[in-house]
Amino acid sequence: MLRSTDTAVRAIKGLSFVAFLFLFAMPIAAQSDITGFWVFRVPTPDGNIRESFFDLKLDGQTVTGNAVQNTRQIPISDGTFHDGALHFTVTTTFGNPPQSRQTAYDGHLDGDKFIFTSQASGRDPVKGTLEHSKPEAALPPARLPLPDLHDVSDNGLARTPPMGWNSWNKFAGRVDDVTVRAVADAMASSGMKNAGYTYVNIDDTWEGPRDAQGNITSNLKFPNMKALADYVHSKGLKIGIYSSPGPKTCAGYEGSYGHEEQDARTYAAWGIDYLKYDFCSAERIYAYTSPDLLAVYQKMGDALLKSGRPIVYSLCEYGRGDVWTWGAKVGGNLWRTTGDISDNWRSMSNIGFRQFDIAQYIRPGHWNDPDMLEIGNGGMTADEYRTHLSLWSFLAAPLLAGNDLRSMSDETKSILMNADVIAVDQDTAGKFVKRISDPSATAATLAAETAVVLARPLSDGSMAIGLFNRGDQPQSVTIHWRSVDLAGKKLRARDLWSHSNVDISGESYSATVPAHGVVMLKVSVAR
Ligand code: GLA
Repeated sequence: MLRSTDTAVRAIKGLSFVAFLFLFAMPIAAQSDITGFWVFRVPTPDGNIRESFFDLKLDGQTVTGNAVQNTRQIPISDGTFHDGALHFTVTTTFGNPPQSRQTAYDGHLDGDKFIFTSQASGRDPVKGTLEHSKPEAALPPARLPLPDLHDVSDNGLARTPPMGWNSWNKFAGRVDDVTVRAVADAMASSGMKNAGYTYVNIDDTWEGPRDAQGNITSNLKFPNMKALADYVHSKGLKIGIYSSPGPKTCAGYEGSYGHEEQDARTYAAWGIDYLKYDFCSAERIYAYTSPDLLAVYQKMGDALLKSGRPIVYSLCEYGRGDVWTWGAKVGGNLWRTTGDISDNWRSMSNIGFRQFDIAQYIRPGHWNDPDMLEIGNGGMTADEYRTHLSLWSFLAAPLLAGNDLRSMSDETKSILMNADVIAVDQDTAGKFVKRISDPSATAATLAAETAVVLARPLSDGSMAIGLFNRGDQPQSVTIHWRSVDLAGKKLRARDLWSHSNVDISGESYSATVPAHGVVMLKVSVAR
């Protein structure tokens, strides 16, 4: 009996152990099978949440699978999971020429999610949570139909190329309300405002999430965009903002996709005067072809007009689809013609000296934009920065300073605020520059030539002449007056950098130009 009782007790104990296993231990085992779709959510200091997705498969203690970026799958490597600890690595390639970056992911199970960290090589670790998700969550919004094309009416703005400042070149993701106010103060107090610089433009990384009604909000770096706009206006300046026709901006913030009219209304309500609209994710996700670009940019062109506020429209799609031939049709006041500039001679000169073939597409209200200025950022010599401003002025490019206006050296100020050179940029006739060359020169010989002579007719009948030296040694650069129809005339000339009159009698004029430098003249026929 005892034995049987014992057996019964043992049987009951055995049963309850099985029940215990069934009720508690099994779900733990199930929870520990991490096979499935996951989202890594990282709260950022500016109040956004960054999400990245993973499709994982557990086999024993080995984890395989992919990082999922929109429709792109990047295989993970070194994946392991044991004792609640998960580890894997993702190697991404980017750029041209391609570079690769390894990111290590590590976390431990806490309930039904992981406390999770990613660390890209050479970067600080990023902390967040890895939570269950669904594959649909990783997909971009469905492609929306594009509107039929029509000509967007001219908004009447930017009769001369816009002048101002933009946050990206110097501050990138570090721009915030305090900095923008201080830059507006400096723009007014340093003389920049008097020199013509007007727009204080916030580039990428101001964006927060959308609210329940789908309205875009600013993130914690910009507590009150309307108040900031009021402040900038109180200084007699104008304010610009940035977005993308895609769901995400280039820095991964909220774009305007499917919210074009709503966003234009928000900008107008805040008091925004200028929008830079940057292609970014729209290109990657929806594989738009060149003809699609017109409709994509027309949407925001229409939306800005409909907002009722005068807002300068700056297209940024790096020159895709020969934007200079259609930018004005979609309401654009300016359009980027190139990829991004960097603060070095190679980048600036490669961009600036390759704009002449499309120079003819400018006209008042509609300008080629070879990207923002790097003057004062420290990567070029004073001669190179003088070339930068001169070249941009010959091109009638927008002059958007990209440096820290709060701490400009006297040299930087003397370059950025050279009224004579700025006057060439801002000339009201909006005529285009020509490169003056020997008629027998081929494209190849011209490209190899380090002496570059430019001429731009100005509204008062005078002509701006640029003698540029792209070479690494000083050299003499010559203009023959017959090549600009000024032979045999009595000419007057002013050097726009030395601010002195120059004697240019004779059939030609030669100047010794420093390496990477320029001599810039304003030449008129003497009465
Ligand atoms: C692109 C643009 C830049 C800048 C960044 C911001 O690269 O070309 O001018 O706006 O995006 O993310």
